[in-house]
Amino acid sequence: MTIDTISEIQTQTTAAEVDDSYISMDMLRFTTAGSVDDGKSTLIGRLLYDSKAIFEDQMEAIEQVSQRRGDAEVDLALLTDGLRAEREQGITIDVAYRYFATPKRKFIIADTPGHIQYTRNMVTGASTAELAIVLIDARKGVLTQSKRHGFLASLLQLPHIIVAVNKMDLVDYSQDVYDKIVEEYTDFASKLSIQNLIFIPISALRGDNVVDKSDNTPWYRGSTLLHYLENVSVGASRNLVDFRFPVQMVLRPHQDFRGFAGQIASGSIAPDEEVVVLPSGRESRIKSIASFDGDLAEAAAGDSVTLTLNDEIDVSRGDMIVRKKNLPTVSNRIECILCWMNEEPLNPNASYILQHTTHQVRAFISELNYRIDVDTLHREPADTLHLNEIGRAKITTTRPLYFDPYRLNRSTGNFVLIDPNTNVTVAAGMIRRRSRDLEEVVAHEPEPTVDRQRSSDVVWESSSVTRDMRERRNGHRAAVLWFTGFSGSGKSTVAKALEKRLYEMRCNTMMLDGDNVRHGLNGDLGFSDADRKENIRRVGEVAHLFFENGNLALCTFISPFRADRELARALAPAGRFLEIFVKCDLEICKRRDPKGLYAKALAGEIKEFTGVSSPYEEPTHPEIVVETDLHSVEECVNQIVDELTRRGLLGV
Ligand code: ADX
Repeated sequence: MTIDTISEIQTQTTAAEVDDSYISMDMLRFTTAGSVDDGKSTLIGRLLYDSKAIFEDQMEAIEQVSQRRGDAEVDLALLTDGLRAEREQGITIDVAYRYFATPKRKFIIADTPGHIQYTRNMVTGASTAELAIVLIDARKGVLTQSKRHGFLASLLQLPHIIVAVNKMDLVDYSQDVYDKIVEEYTDFASKLSIQNLIFIPISALRGDNVVDKSDNTPWYRGSTLLHYLENVSVGASRNLVDFRFPVQMVLRPHQDFRGFAGQIASGSIAPDEEVVVLPSGRESRIKSIASFDGDLAEAAAGDSVTLTLNDEIDVSRGDMIVRKKNLPTVSNRIECILCWMNEEPLNPNASYILQHTTHQVRAFISELNYRIDVDTLHREPADTLHLNEIGRAKITTTRPLYFDPYRLNRSTGNFVLIDPNTNVTVAAGMIRRRSRDLEEVVAHEPEPTVDRQRSSDVVWESSSVTRDMRERRNGHRAAVLWFTGFSGSGKSTVAKALEKRLYEMRCNTMMLDGDNVRHGLNGDLGFSDADRKENIRRVGEVAHLFFENGNLALCTFISPFRADRELARALAPAGRFLEIFVKCDLEICKRRDPKGLYAKALAGEIKEFTGVSSPYEEPTHPEIVVETDLHSVEECVNQIVDELTRRGLLGV
């Protein structure tokens, strides 16, 4: 079995056998982390073997294999690594999760094959694990990887970390060696937030301090590993408050029954409580909570149940049912910590599938803020993340996620990224919060800023491909470049030269020109003040559509009235509408008279001609002023490109 997603594994585990003991005090979920040859497999084997937690046929099979190979001792690593190769022996064991039990407690170990997969090990089942065993080879001491494990465990908010200093037999059970490792690791861990950090000197191979107390370490006064595992307090890190029910399946066995099956991620719920379904926002009440053991009066985190609602509302897989007065955050932009788990490094231009609870959406890494050097815990600039690296990123998804910050809710605060081409899980993430950028965008979203006339029965249809996504693909920002000035001032000339330059820079542009637009879309308009106003209104709207489509929209209109230009500006977010005043002395425009219109206007053959018989209101605060009577077209273009660059519009 390969591990595809955290949730999938959780589901499988639940379905298998731990369903009703999820938050029981008698159950401890833990992960193990070690570097190559640290003895992780042997340790797990030792735990299983010495605690007599394995079945006799498995025990026999292992003994046989060891014998056959001529091993001096039973190779306990066979219990984990070896069993895969020894499948033909008739031994089966869950590869992803191992279960064992002692009279005191049941245990689930999240474990994945592979030497370099420790990140995967740790983040798999992160939302339910309570403890991590970090293995350190006594001979090698504290390695970068040992620090990485501790750092990950602290990021994952695992309440307990046991540092098992293994292979003590190979350093003659030296207290000095052990103390040095304890000191170095404690010093490092003091910079992390770890609730409970414990050290135990062990030899997984010889069994020292794993299940039985060792005579070889008389200087060690602490408990054995198993004793600790059996007695550590569990359950404290669960979120039992916020009811979150990611819908896994819609059940409709017959006409009269429609239920929503899934596992309660956090919190609890009872019949008759008011709930909301996300993302639709439809409200209803819980009618019943069906479970394997019949209808329940209450259900809580970890329970797999089927909910029915009082009302017939549309609910599908990936939706989330929550309590009406306790909503998660809903956003398509998140800030997160990413742990990269794939040989292929993060590709900032690729799109990934983000799996969050039972919900899958397309996702882009919109910003990689930094990578964390696990040795120093310093932040460093990064263009990508390689295998096992940890960084901070902003992610944009095509549809909103309903989540809680990982800090508050581990179940609804974690996600994984999947490569859509290979279907491999490439990263695990912990959501810190909704991206702050969102607030900025929302604050400048067009609707509230301008009062636009519209029919009462129209609803805004949002795009499945956002501007942000287009911008990332285009490699530059979208903006409206609004050229204003007299006829003959050079608006079109400069804009055309600019468009050519931008094209060469591989920018996506759209051009809207006064004369051209009046040939079609605005063919019904003349040059009265009202018609000019309507001209600019329509063009402003079209420019906005181009803008939302990720383009640099170049608009060349006399647009003589300040108020009309301001309306066009109001449609765009701050910083994305650039008024470019194409300044040219009116007398020079008249002399240029490229279309012979000034002559006609001066002769009275054209009425309401701007600059002759109709006014022009100069911009008061244009973003850019180009003076075509003083500078060449090329100089004007350079000036505009420089300003676009300075404003960060020509890159993402
Ligand atoms: S706007 O003032 O309504 O914005 P717009 O830029 O669309 O004008 O169109 C101006 C173009 O229309 C000019 O470049 C010119 O070629 C042509 N034109 C024809 N009649 C007039 C007029 N009365 N005033 C200005 N431009 C005119």
